[in-house]
Amino acid sequence: EEPPAAMAVPQAGDPSLTLLGRVGVVDPASLDDYRAHGGYTALRRAFELGPAGVIREVTDSGLVGRGGAAFPTGRKWQATASQPDRPHYLVCNADESEPGTFKDRVLMEGDPFSLIEAMTIAGYATGAHQGYLYLRGEYPRALRRLEHALAQARARGLLGDDVLGQGYAFDIEIRRGAGAYICGEETALFNSIEGYRGEPRSKPPFPVEKGLFGKPTVENNVETLVNVLPILTMGAPAYAAIGTGRSTGPKLFCVSGSVDRPGVYELPFGATLGDLLTLAGVRGRLRAVLLGGAAGGFVRPDELGIPLTFEGTREAGTTLGSGVVMAFDDTVPLPRLLLRIAEFFRDESCGQCVPCRVGTVRQEEALHRIAERTGAAAADDIALLREVGRAMRDASICGLGQTAWNAVESAIDRLGAYE
Ligand code: NAI
Ligand code: SF4
Repeated sequence: EEPPAAMAVPQAGDPSLTLLGRVGVVDPASLDDYRAHGGYTALRRAFELGPAGVIREVTDSGLVGRGGAAFPTGRKWQATASQPDRPHYLVCNADESEPGTFKDRVLMEGDPFSLIEAMTIAGYATGAHQGYLYLRGEYPRALRRLEHALAQARARGLLGDDVLGQGYAFDIEIRRGAGAYICGEETALFNSIEGYRGEPRSKPPFPVEKGLFGKPTVENNVETLVNVLPILTMGAPAYAAIGTGRSTGPKLFCVSGSVDRPGVYELPFGATLGDLLTLAGVRGRLRAVLLGGAAGGFVRPDELGIPLTFEGTREAGTTLGSGVVMAFDDTVPLPRLLLRIAEFFRDESCGQCVPCRVGTVRQEEALHRIAERTGAAAADDIALLREVGRAMRDASICGLGQTAWNAVESAIDRLGAYE
């Protein structure tokens, strides 16, 4: 069961790594092996600290969400924990679908118990007794390994009515997605679990107040949750010392495209795009790098000094998103690539609101006309793209429509794609 090439973990076995340290080292089917490699020490520490103490550690660590939006995790946990309405739910967003993103898959396949332990800690801290793990449908190996790990954890009293004999009841149910990108949007994901169409809800109210089944819910990405383990084992100050002041801790990056060693890399926040691409080995003459996935944006080869932090990418007018770094050499036809991205958004739009439902179609049509003219853009096509892009960004209900023009805009403005 070797991972395919695109799933490689080039640093596997490096004991200095915080998040990937066990991937490729532990037997993902063995709870004993997980424990022998430090597993379940964080949960014991959580029971010593108590729920409020855990939230304090997570807040002090500076951890922010790794799904792409970088919301402070401690604030989210505190907001849910303090809601009087019951029950509270914990939802792990494992519907990893951003093109070029495969870090959560590596964690779940290579170190499944870590996610189960982290979810148990999150549930304990925020007063939830039921967790849902919403798993991308196209991850069958992760499903098998997580199901196996859940069964072992239940059998050994690490899930169930009395976790570790501490009087805390918690269990996790896996729900599988059915291939819709939009179900990774947190409220569409709730609708999907509840048995409705996977359409986003308007926010506010935020899930911390009214989430799954209308109840207070913490929704966190896989990588975000797994970071809670080192926060508790090393302590918040040591964790916060990794990275930069505003982006703390380690970060996983998914590198693909024109590189010799594609795969998931772990680096402390603050390394530059150039550092990462040197590790992965750029192949050919670099033309552009897509940062943050299809919802992100392109940068030029002369911008490799951009620091890989949330604030550094923002200041550079781009985004870190979920950690996608896709390199393109100068043999890749940009107009075709942009058309492919536009097709993706048109296909995945849930159709609920007009700016996105119509805008993604108009955007694709204009890019198709341009691609048919072998990349030469008429001025009116560019003007139309800008107008449609603005409408999608300003008036769409959710992040899909709001970001569907990002990549195209950056290709026009930063890369001069059609000049
Ligand atoms: P968002 O900024 O609306 O929310 C981020 C999180 O913070 C949510 O959980 C939200 O409920 C919470 N939040 C925001 N304001 C709050 C408040 N005042 N009180 C309490 N909670 C609050 O962003 P969204 O739409 O959830 O995510 C967008 C990101 O998702 C993009 O950056 C994109 O890169 C990323 N993304 C990642 C994918 C993946 O496969 N990992 C797929 C698609 C998009
Ligand atoms: Fe659906 Fe697009 Fe509107 Fe989001 S922005 S709710 S994906 S139509």
